[in-house]
Amino acid sequence: MRKDIILRIAAIGLLLTSMSFAAEVNKGAKEETIPAGSQGDVKFPHELHQQSIQDCKLCHDLYPETPNAISGLKQKGALKPKQVMNQQCVKCHNAKRAAGVKAGPVICSQCHGKHS
Ligand code: HEC
Ligand code: HEC
Ligand code: HEC
Repeated sequence: MRKDIILRIAAIGLLLTSMSFAAEVNKGAKEETIPAGSQGDVKFPHELHQQSIQDCKLCHDLYPETPNAISGLKQKGALKPKQVMNQQCVKCHNAKRAAGVKAGPVICSQCHGKHS
């Protein structure tokens, strides 16, 4: 009985610790602006994607969770122009569309040139 209670207290402690770690994750801005050269900036609803996708790594495997990561990597040649657009944004939107679920835009002007 005592052992049982101690185990329960330990479990609650672990739960609280993991919850406080979760609260400390830096989720970044609700909306990001991604430069795309002469094509005009792309407004990216970050929070909306975090809500519908959840797995941060799905995008952040390609670039770190730091401000202006994509531009920095493109300048260094570590990412090609349109790589993120083709491998992530448009690819996923097309896949969702094909699956008949909510998707994002695939038309150029619906992403590019949105300076607000
Ligand atoms: C659908 C793709 C996608 C997903 C999923 C995603 N992010 Fe991001 N994130 C981005 C993009 C795009 C940027 C902007 C990069 C840039 O400016 O070059 C970014 C930027 C960031 C930044 C740095 C910029 C800032 O505002 O501070 C942080 C921190 C970040 N993300 C955290 C997260 C976390 C934590 C998760 C998961 C809960 C997550 N992201 C999920 C695409 C995504
Ligand atoms: C879902 C949003 C989205 C759509 C739709 C989209 N793009 Fe992009 N595009 C981006 C993002 C984000 C970037 C910046 C990251 C990168 O270069 O991969 C980009 C980058 C680019 C670049 C590279 C700019 C540079 O100088 O580095 C070109 C060119 C481009 N897009 C043209 C197009 C054209 C043409 C279309 C339509 C056929 C299109 N894009 C549709 C989001 C989009
Ligand atoms: C893994 C899938 C995935 C990736 C990667 C992804 N998106 Fe999306 N995007 C979605 C889904 C799903 C929606 C619809 C979400 C909703 O309406 O609930 C969406 C919606 C959007 C919208 C419309 C938001 C609105 O208010 O209607 C924009 C703009 C957008 N995405 C831009 C981008 C850009 C730019 C990138 C690349 C940096 C990107 N997305 C990467 C899945 C993705």
